[in-house]
Amino acid sequence: MEVKINLRAFLSLCWLFLLLIITLFVSAFMWPNVPPEEHLSDSEETTIPLGNSTSDFDPGQISEGKVLFRNNCATCHNKNMKDDMTGPALGGITERWEDFPSADLFQWIRNSQALVQEKHPRAMSLWKEWDKKPMTAFPNLTDEDLTALVAYIERK
Ligand code: HEC
Repeated sequence: MEVKINLRAFLSLCWLFLLLIITLFVSAFMWPNVPPEEHLSDSEETTIPLGNSTSDFDPGQISEGKVLFRNNCATCHNKNMKDDMTGPALGGITERWEDFPSADLFQWIRNSQALVQEKHPRAMSLWKEWDKKPMTAFPNLTDEDLTALVAYIERK
């Protein structure tokens, strides 16, 4: 008799447990649909995005950067951003330049030799590490172009 009651209690406990699991499952699947994240839209105001999360770049910038990269940089820099070619792999540049004002990285791309002449520490170490192989200057690239290039380079 006692055994039977316990079995019944056990079975109803099992039911409760199953219900709990179903509830957890359902809420786990519903959860991501509840609060839509909308922080992507306010990134347009950022002209110099260095130091911000790279997820703030919008897809338009990235595809603009891709075209600029293909036309200007791809002969020397690998488009996979991971392997060195004539020039170093560019992936992670924002981190490697994070100790300096973001304008320094832009200036490097526009005219790396000017920064070497100024004895900028990052420019000097690149210059030495890469056997004094000069990078082409791109004085015509605007801040927007360079922002797009960085967005493409650091895309995830
Ligand atoms: C003629 C080959 C050449 C071209 C074209 C070129 N680069 Fe470079 N780049 C180099 C070399 C070589 C270095 C290494 C430093 C040095 O020797 O001047 C370098 C270094 C860099 C660095 C520094 C990387 C770091 O780790 O800090 C950045 C950023 C960079 N290039 C961006 C660009 C971008 C953006 C373009 C296109 C707009 C471009 N480069 C086009 C050859 C090139």
